[in-house]
This record gives sequence, structure tokens and C-alpha cells, in this order.
Amino acid sequence: MLHGAVGFHIRRRSKMEKVPVSMHKDAKFESVRLYLVERKMGSSRRAFLTQLARSKGFIVEDILSDVVTHIVSEDCQASSLWTWLEGHGVKTLPMMQVLDITWFTDSMKQGKPVAVEPRHLIQGSLPMLPDATTSTPVAKVSQYACQRRTTTANSNKIFTDAFEVLAESYEFNEMEGQSLAFRRAASVLRSLPSKIQSLRDAESLPFLGKHSIAVIEEILQCGFSMEVQKILSNERFKTLKLFMSVFGVGLKTAEKWYRKGLLSFSDILAAPGIHLNRMQQNGFLHYGDISRAVSKAEAQALGNIIDETVHAITSDALLTLTGGFRRGKDFGHDVDFIVTTPEMGKEEHLLTAVIESLKHQGLILYCDYRASTFDMSRLPNHKFDAMDHFAKCFLILRLDGSRVEGGLCGAEGDGRGWRAVRVDLVSPPMKQYAFTLLGWTGSKQFERDLRRFAQKERHMLLDNHALYDKTKRELLAATTEQDIFAHLGLQYIEPCQRNA
Ligand code: UTP
Ligand code: MN
Repeated sequence: MLHGAVGFHIRRRSKMEKVPVSMHKDAKFESVRLYLVERKMGSSRRAFLTQLARSKGFIVEDILSDVVTHIVSEDCQASSLWTWLEGHGVKTLPMMQVLDITWFTDSMKQGKPVAVEPRHLIQGSLPMLPDATTSTPVAKVSQYACQRRTTTANSNKIFTDAFEVLAESYEFNEMEGQSLAFRRAASVLRSLPSKIQSLRDAESLPFLGKHSIAVIEEILQCGFSMEVQKILSNERFKTLKLFMSVFGVGLKTAEKWYRKGLLSFSDILAAPGIHLNRMQQNGFLHYGDISRAVSKAEAQALGNIIDETVHAITSDALLTLTGGFRRGKDFGHDVDFIVTTPEMGKEEHLLTAVIESLKHQGLILYCDYRASTFDMSRLPNHKFDAMDHFAKCFLILRLDGSRVEGGLCGAEGDGRGWRAVRVDLVSPPMKQYAFTLLGWTGSKQFERDLRRFAQKERHMLLDNHALYDKTKRELLAATTEQDIFAHLGLQYIEPCQRNA
């Protein structure tokens, strides 16, 4: 059975949720503090909704202060709402969820705070860029993506696309520092609620240095950047991009082929002395399918198939959709799942059984299984990093059009009625589930900044397995993502707001 939008929520969640001791009598959800905006709502309705929420164990604050986490408003005039909220001079405003009443009614129906989805967010812009014409104190944009809320609605795509090209180009030239600088700048712009209109908007933002400001200036003036155009038409850049679009081909291999003078796929396949490994062979074999984006409906269909498979093996298995689709993206390059079981030590066996069953059903076109190399007793070590050591597999699965609501996405013209899709399954022990979920949900920039924040601001080490407090010299346990954010002293950021 599936739950959520494209999602699977962890079963028996209630058992895992911590209910901390509260100062508020009857409060069930200590980490959520509501504030209901009276404007448009009216005082009697506000009093009624306050009563209702409190009777269900929610904390409702009477005044808007730093402790508030969720602001609920019935005012659909976004700009006037923001101005009104800003007028309160609450420093933590950029970190608060500003939600419309549908989030509140959904939460009341379910008797608990529901996860924030894009449809709950009040649209419009929070005027957080410095405004020299007024003396209102303006909130600063954090240098850490894990302190920003970034949905899939990117108002600055024209700039972030350009920055991504520059970042990639620097990466291809092994200039990691410059590459990271552009990725960080792109990530900051993605979090802004509105499009940058003038250089002044951009200058005070973190990570926007001389070079990125110059690119923005050019784009503001003529709609494109000469430097980016040049890169895009550069032969080496184009060829490396093409080669790296093949599953199993990284920068090193692409560069090696380019140095041999190869420029196209047919060059590679015709060249003598080129050895393709099994991954690359399959990358070429299924290139048409797996270079095409996977839709939400296709991800959902795969989720159903794997869910049935997993639960035919054991009834207490947990399957969770993660990666970009958990962040609410409409398309992805693959579909990522976590599969585990509460029975400690059985998770790896479960993964191999799932692979066997998928094979049996004729669904596996390619399978690269990596056994677990995870050893809790060796944590923490200097290798606290992004590569995790859990059992996992990189798959190419066959997805039948008949399983997909609304049919396969595009290119059904060849009449095959199926497509190949890249799927990743990772299988951590239950104790590491929350860390794995946080790590695999991404985005990559969000993960990088979580780790950087942990190290720089908290003297802690975070990876997909654990969180280590270097001051206390101890590992900090977590059963939910909320626990990890709390250990780090960070406000919880919903998956749909991690598209940094
Ligand atoms: P993806 O590369 O699948 O990215 O990794 P995505 O965000 O889902 O985007 P698309 O739509 O597929 O392109 C998902 C997350 O899983 C982590 C990555 O760091 C990323 O944040 N990951 C992936 C790991 O932690 N370990 C791995 O072995 C693979
Ligand atoms: Mn993915």
C-alpha cells in the first residue's frame, strides 16, 4: 500500500515519533508552534481555530515572536501579508513556515502537523533583500543551504542555469574551488522568492563574488552571458557532456576518449582498443531510455512494483521513496528508494531477496549489487563523508507502460510499450534509517551544507550513517530526520524545501 503524493511513509511511524515533555499542558507537538494571523481571518474565527488546535494538542502562540515555527494566514494578498509580518521585526521570520489555511485544516483532520507541501506555501515574495530606501531591518540570507527553504519553483533559472554551466566547466578543468563557488552561488539564487531585478539585489548575497555578479550583470543587460555561450559551443565541453551522459561514464573516462580524438558515440563504438565495462555497455544499450527524464507517474509505478515485491517477501519491510522525487520534483534522472526492516541484521538479506524476486519477474535489465561494508565500530573515522557503506544496488529496470497512470512519458512511438529506468536501492540497518533518509533525500548542495554547518558551526560530523559530537565525543542517536535537525540546533526543513 502506498501513502502520500508519490510517497511511502515509514510504517508504524507513531512508534518512532518522540513526544518530548512539554511545558504546555496537553501539548503533543513541542517542536511546532503556531501563530494564526488575525488579518482577514477575524478575531472570532481566530479564537475558534486556536481553541480547536489546542484541543488537539497543538501549541498556539498568541503573539508573533522568535519561538513561532509555523505562521498560518487566510490572507491571500501575499505582498501585504509579508509587509505586515516584516513590520513585527521578528529576526527569525525567514526561517518560519508561512502557510495558508489548507495546511492548518489538513493538520487538524489528521490530528498532527502534516508535512508541508508546495500547495500549502503562501506564494509571493518575502522582501529579504536589503532595501536602502527604508530603515526596516532586513533579514539576511544564510550562507548555509540547510538554513534556507528552497522549493522547486526557481525564480532565477536564467542565472542558475548559467552558473551551473560555469561550475561544470571549472569541474572539467579540475578547478574545484571555482566550481564549488558557482554551485553555491546558484544554490543561494534558487532559494530567493523572486527574480533578481538589479545588481543591487545580488551584491549583498552570500557567495556572490565578482565573477558571478559580472555574469548576472551581462544577463540582466542582454539576456545571456558571452562566457557561457562560448563554453556551450566549446568542442571539449560539448563532447565531455555527451560522453558523461552515458551511465557508467565519469569525467576520467570521457576525457580519455576525447584525448583519443573521439567526438561521438559512433566514434567510440567504432574505435579499436576501447574497452567498455558492463555498466557502460548497458549505458549505451539503454541510452535512449535512461537519458530521458523519469516522470512522477513513472516513479510512482516503480514504487508500487517494488512495494509489492518487498511485501511479498516480508510484511514488516519498510520502503521509502527518497532522492529528488521525495523533494517534490516532477522529473528525475533515476528513482531512489530505501528498503529496510526492523529486524536488525536482516536488511541486507532483504535487499538480495528483492533483487532475486525482481529478476524472477523479468524486470531486471541490469544489476550492480554492492554488499555492505558498513562497520559501526569504526565510526567516526577520517572518512566521515558522502559515500556510504550500506548494501545497495544500481539497477536498470524494465517498466511496463500498463503500470503507469496516464501511460509512459513521451516516446511511446516505437510501440514497445515499456521503457528502461534507472533505479537505486539502498538498505541501511533500521538504526541508521534516519541518517540514510536525510542523506539520500538530497539535494547534493543541501547535504554538503548540512555537513559543512555541522562541522563549522557545531563541531560535529554528519554523514549517511551517523552524527558525531566532537566536543562530547559521542555519537548522537536519531530515529527521525527531525531528531537530526534538533541535534544540530537547526529548524526542521521539509523535503520539498531542500531543493537547494
Ligand atoms: P541522485 O543523484 O539520485 O540525485 O542522488 P537526485 O537529487 O535524486 O536528483 P535526480 O533527479 O535523480 O537527478 C540523491 C541523493 O542521494 C545521495 C546523493 O548525495 C543525493 O543527495 N547519494 C546517492 C548518496 O548519499 N550515496 C550514494 O551512493 C548515492
Ligand atoms: Mn535520484
